[in-house]
Amino acid sequence: MLNFTFHNPTRIHFGNGQIQAIAKEIPEDAKVLVLYGGGSIKSNGVYDQVIAALGDRAVFEFSGIEPNPSYDTLVKSLPIIRDNKVDYLLAVGGGSVVDGTKFIAGAALFEGDDPWDIIAKQQRIKQALPIGVVLTLPATGSESNIGAVVTRNGNKLPFSSALVRPKFAVLDPAVTLTLSDRQVGNGVVDAFVHTMEQYLTYNVNGKLQDRFAEGILQTLIEEGPKALAAKTKEDLDIRANIMWSATMALNGLIGSGVPQDWATHMIGHELTGSHNIDHARTLSIVLPAVMKVRREAKREKLLQYAERVWQVTDGSDEEKIDRAISLTEDFFEKMGVPTRLSHVDLNASHLDELITKLTEHGMVKLGEKRDITPKISREILETAL
Ligand code: NZQ
Ligand code: ZN
Repeated sequence: MLNFTFHNPTRIHFGNGQIQAIAKEIPEDAKVLVLYGGGSIKSNGVYDQVIAALGDRAVFEFSGIEPNPSYDTLVKSLPIIRDNKVDYLLAVGGGSVVDGTKFIAGAALFEGDDPWDIIAKQQRIKQALPIGVVLTLPATGSESNIGAVVTRNGNKLPFSSALVRPKFAVLDPAVTLTLSDRQVGNGVVDAFVHTMEQYLTYNVNGKLQDRFAEGILQTLIEEGPKALAAKTKEDLDIRANIMWSATMALNGLIGSGVPQDWATHMIGHELTGSHNIDHARTLSIVLPAVMKVRREAKREKLLQYAERVWQVTDGSDEEKIDRAISLTEDFFEKMGVPTRLSHVDLNASHLDELITKLTEHGMVKLGEKRDITPKISREILETAL
């Protein structure tokens, strides 16, 4: 196992009716900015519950944070924060709202000239406004981690800082019942791929991390399709299991002490940046190709994945790996997401631009061994055609 330091101080309030917990989390004299997206929280009653829980606190609002939050939108919140002396941010939404709020939390107190430097130059932030989260879409794990992804002019780039980790997050599975099938599928697949990025690498004998990861993968495989099936899609236990899995997939626990890959995500970000494809749908296209192209480097873990996650025990090693890859693709298809570039109308003529962008963004040494060069990324995209 590798050395690690693990500290995740986000307090989680999980379950039915927990939105009222924000009343005890946010100081009574706080000036709160409630941040949200395109309005789903207004039509499904989440907004009303949040406002009721905030009681007599001074409350301001900033809405319109779009999927794959854009810098241009996010900076429009800064004058509201400044003019009203806002001192607490409450993000109510999915990963995009939470990520956008993380950027705003750092940008509001940034001492440099241009807040874009937080991302473009990876300039460390020294302080940030405190963040609380009411999560409405289980997928990203952003509600209790330190990362965020922001887009500007087709460039989708990550940053991270422990200062933007949410102080608390409310996870009420009931609020996920209004998600479209598309968003349910996306969420399950994103959480699945987060787990794979921290599991499907090379063996360092991190037995517990491996078994946690396998538990999350199996739970998503079992529960994901049920959340789409007419008979079971309203079942709150299924939603709860998916929601907790998604948080645990990227809250730092399963990745502690083990190598991490993230090549699928970095290549996927270019597909979103250049072609506006939903985040999870880029991952379901890229991951199977990564498994095929990195078959030798990941051999031992691919076999473990085949045997322990999919119970594939018959046949030669090659057959087991083939079967595990095709079962992964079947699972993605069951969740309604694409598994080839051709499924999203992209072809070989788009690869040059994607590789150029990847290179421009410094993504030239990807993977758990930092040996995925742009040439290998091209091979991965060619395999995904
Ligand atoms: O904007 P509204 O109207 O709220 O609608 C949203 C949005 O259109 C809707 N939605 C959310 N909750 C709903 C709902 N609709 C009905 N009922 C509800 N309860 O869903 C749509 C998608 O929302 P979005 O927040 O974009 O989805 P997701 O949670 O998948 O977040 C994706 C973003 O997170 C980033 C991605 O790159 C992408 O920008 N990621 C962040 C990570 C992190 N911080 O650790 C890791 C991930 O790998 C990922 O990169
Ligand atoms: Zn992701």
